[in-house]
Amino acid sequence: MDQLGVVILAAGLGKRMRSTKAKVLHHLAGKPLISHVIQTTQHLHPDRLVIVVGHQAAEVERACRNEGGLFAVQQEQHGTGDAVRTAQGHFRDFRGDILIVCGDTPLLTAATLARFVQDHRTRHVTLSLLTTRLDDPGQYGRVLRTCDGRILKIVEARDATSEELEVQEINSGIYCVHADFLFTALEQLQPLNAQGEYYLTDIVAQAVAAGLPTQTMLTTDPNEVGGINSREDLAIMEKTRQAQLRSHWMAAGVTLQDPETVYIDEEVTIGSDTVIGPNTQLKGKTVIGTHCRIDGSAYIENCRIGNDVHLLFSVALFNSEFGDKTAVGPFAHVREGTQLAARAEIGNFVEVKKSVIGEHTKAKHLAYIGDAEIGRDANIGAGTITCNYDGFRKHRTKIGDRVQVGSDTTLVAPVTIHDDVYIATATTVRKDVPAGALVFNTREEKVREGWTATKREKMKNAK
Ligand code: UD1
Ligand code: CA
Repeated sequence: MDQLGVVILAAGLGKRMRSTKAKVLHHLAGKPLISHVIQTTQHLHPDRLVIVVGHQAAEVERACRNEGGLFAVQQEQHGTGDAVRTAQGHFRDFRGDILIVCGDTPLLTAATLARFVQDHRTRHVTLSLLTTRLDDPGQYGRVLRTCDGRILKIVEARDATSEELEVQEINSGIYCVHADFLFTALEQLQPLNAQGEYYLTDIVAQAVAAGLPTQTMLTTDPNEVGGINSREDLAIMEKTRQAQLRSHWMAAGVTLQDPETVYIDEEVTIGSDTVIGPNTQLKGKTVIGTHCRIDGSAYIENCRIGNDVHLLFSVALFNSEFGDKTAVGPFAHVREGTQLAARAEIGNFVEVKKSVIGEHTKAKHLAYIGDAEIGRDANIGAGTITCNYDGFRKHRTKIGDRVQVGSDTTLVAPVTIHDDVYIATATTVRKDVPAGALVFNTREEKVREGWTATKREKMKNAK
């Protein structure tokens, strides 16, 4: 059987983005545009997948290193036709069809591409073109046809006459072409257009002129083939993708109380019966379990959240793990490398960093816990601070099971508090404390009776 190849064009800078970053590295739903396209085409299980890189080739290669695929480098960007030509080296011993897609069309679906390729093959055509119809066809290439409807050629908006610009059927930039014809046709391209570039689009007219069988497929969902050229395109597409992701998760059993204010990255997963309040951002590879409650105003990046977790109003959580039935917030900040065991509770104005918090341990008010390891059933009082940084290095604090840390305690790391210790309020702990001990600092408490009245009298007379 014929082989299937894929070529993804991603060498352009994307001038219209006005960015120092290559266009395909800009993110949609938290993932580079190029990764969206690669992952979609990988669903077709191509025999060969080649990504044409150029602008910031090294960065683009790094961004899609783990997606599979070979790279071809287009040193100078002389147009889409020239770009495909640079991929030719990877197709020397190849027999079959090549699906060409642009790296800047991230909403393409594998289902549409599969149908497109299937159709191309069952009809034994040399060239297939995916098109769509737009009310406002803008800068897209126009599909020109004969009076009896047969495809003739594609003309770029820049090169089109005002009459041609009226055409609403546009080139999606997605082609399926027999490899032999493709590479021969590319040799014959001429840069005779407004941009002085080698246009891939010109192979359509070549196939027609040679009398080879060509066909077009019209997609009914124009969003799918939309290309991103500007920041505005990117913003519009982000809106479209967010709407799709919200619908997906609602269909999977997640309640979004105000869907339009919930932002979900591509790789996030959410368990059923979880209820998410307004203004919630779920970023990166965040995984949320079932039956969770997220009250709202939450920023959650790369976190693993168990089942039955309650995130109270306003939390910022990064690269951390939250066991089943934990509760965090309101107004809590959990930073990288933190692990909360089941039923642990982090309350208001508590910051936790790189710490392990044992089962059912609580730190409910105003605390900083950094580089600490705390056992189970412990209680961290209000105003507790782990002094983990001496100005040179970070040090660890260890707190055992069932330890009661009184309010306003400072723990000067490195320090170990063994199991069942009681730390009296307002204690500065500098030395390790053995299991079961009470630790306190002696501070004399002095009382001056009638002091306030005397002071007030003095102040009044001074006026
Ligand atoms: C292209 C098509 C246009 C179509 C539109 C669909 C041509 C000449 N025009 O226009 O008919 O309607 O896509 O989105 O093909 N690239 C390279 N090397 C280059 C030039 C471009 O790799 O030398 C890559 C870009 O990185 C991008 C893709 O090819 O991913 C398309 O290039 P772009 O400049 O965005 O083409 P459009 O003007 O959108
Ligand atoms: Ca484009």
